[in-house]
Amino acid sequence: MCGIVAGVALQRSIVPALLDGLKRLEYRGYDSCGVAVLQAGGPRCIRTLARVEALESDVRAANLDGSTGIAHTRWATHGVPAIANAHPIFSHDQIAVVHNGIIENHEALRESLVEQGYEFVSQTDTEVIAHLVHSHYEGDLLAAVFDAARMLQGAYAIAVICKDEPQRVIGARQGSPLVVGLGPDGAFLASDTFALSTYASGIIYLEDGDVADLRSGNLRILNSAGETVVRGVNQITEQGGDSELGAYRHYMQKEIFEQPLAVARTFSMVRSLDATLFGTVDPNAFSGVDNVLMLGCGTSHYSALTARGWFETIAGIRAHAEIASEYRYRDYVPQRGTLVVPISQSGETADTLAALRYAQSVGEALTLAICNVATSAIVRQSNWAFITQAGPEIGVASTKAFTTQLVALFLLALTLGRQRARLSAGQVAKHLRDLAALPDAIRSVLAREPQIIGWAQELRRKEHALFLGRGLHYPIALEAALKMKEISYLHAEGYPAGELKHGPLALVTEAMPVIVSAPNDCLLDKLKANLQEISARGGKLYVLADANTRLQAAEGMRIIRLPDYYGFLSPLLHVVAYQLLAYHVACLRGTDVDKPRNLAKSVTVE
Ligand code: AGP
Repeated sequence: MCGIVAGVALQRSIVPALLDGLKRLEYRGYDSCGVAVLQAGGPRCIRTLARVEALESDVRAANLDGSTGIAHTRWATHGVPAIANAHPIFSHDQIAVVHNGIIENHEALRESLVEQGYEFVSQTDTEVIAHLVHSHYEGDLLAAVFDAARMLQGAYAIAVICKDEPQRVIGARQGSPLVVGLGPDGAFLASDTFALSTYASGIIYLEDGDVADLRSGNLRILNSAGETVVRGVNQITEQGGDSELGAYRHYMQKEIFEQPLAVARTFSMVRSLDATLFGTVDPNAFSGVDNVLMLGCGTSHYSALTARGWFETIAGIRAHAEIASEYRYRDYVPQRGTLVVPISQSGETADTLAALRYAQSVGEALTLAICNVATSAIVRQSNWAFITQAGPEIGVASTKAFTTQLVALFLLALTLGRQRARLSAGQVAKHLRDLAALPDAIRSVLAREPQIIGWAQELRRKEHALFLGRGLHYPIALEAALKMKEISYLHAEGYPAGELKHGPLALVTEAMPVIVSAPNDCLLDKLKANLQEISARGGKLYVLADANTRLQAAEGMRIIRLPDYYGFLSPLLHVVAYQLLAYHVACLRGTDVDKPRNLAKSVTVE
């Protein structure tokens, strides 16, 4: 979390590049933001608790200018959102630092720096970095940052400037992402490639322990041993999908409506249904696989839970879906033939990356990332990868990344099912036809938006809601509840419908809306009985029913009729309706849809 951008511009101001980068990084956190540039009289800094847009006005009003600078957008970890805790953080008006990550030994370092006479004015762990660099500075910022970095424990990506070296920025990373961007106007550092897409044409991915020295027209990278190293330059290719808002009011809205295209693009990657679709050279690379272990967080975990049913039923293969932050601390017993599948939109989620590394450390050798960012840490840490074609997802609430993850996982289930001779050619062809027709089916759910807005108007003043599903639609109930709480702040919980009578039924009153997925599957009759239990207790039901369920609206039961049952892929239709529902409840409640409070898009801290 937190986004950093920095650079040294050639014969022009660095400020526009810093602000452009910050706007693109705001998804990483938005508790405060700030920028510092080096000017003849010393560093000048502007920080605000408002958003980057407000920072831009302040910067304009103050005529902030200079060819070297650093900037930051914060997701608070140490210290409340406050100007004193906003970055850049200074030491003695000489050294300025922006930081993403967590310094685990900051207390010990702080004590020793206080003993040396340093005074702390913020509650941040970052301030120890600024003072540490200052304490090592003897006229060479590169040497000072290198020495200071060796004393830091934890995860960090930093960019540092010094008043006495006006054309120089030093970057360093350990555990948190940091890239170098090279372009005609200068050299830059940023938390991700997207932040530099306007200004850089070439990108270098720094490795853990690297320290980069950016000067005008000159770049040098040291590895953790202090040796000069050459890292490859990659050309920036913006991933498909437009990152501008266009006619939409919010990115989340745009991303919900992009799903037919994103799903179609992801499906269009299919050339052959074998392991090569997932980045292997050998089409039979999965032949020894008889167990799938999926790792993920939040929405990505719910895609794993959904896919677990596909792996079991379609491929007849054992499958487990683990919450990465729990798995990484378990005494997991490795099992031969396990394919470990980390799932992540960003590919930078610290818990998922750590869970993957943990699985590898205990001997799991087959790792396949399902990810939306080809250059991310999780992809690079895995043997193989399937890159979902969602395009940039800017809204904090994940939508099109989820549905494209599901497409990727469904393709993996088909591949394993085929390899294990569980599927006939005819069955494979039918599944592929369903996938090909999925964009149109999603469009027909999107067309139900006016009815969904009607539900949103009824739900907007509620305090709580329950979401229910069974089978493949239970994870969809969890995802629906997550969407609702994260963007509308309405308290919502997802439950398997059959579990209600074991406790949550006590919550059901007229005031508790119960929102239910009713696909026309083998569990429909069981689900109908669950609906009766709720109606009998005065509960108000909102049912997403497949067209062929023959459920009828009645007193206390609203129905939105979805298309006919869509088989294994039905969860991808129901979830789109829930995304729209959460979106419209949030809009009616006036929340900040794309940047909900306390959250960030990319969770790069534990
Ligand atoms: C989803 O709406 C969330 N904001 C969040 O749960 C997210 O899915 C989770 O943090 C995992 O992120 P990742 O897919 O980038 O790893």
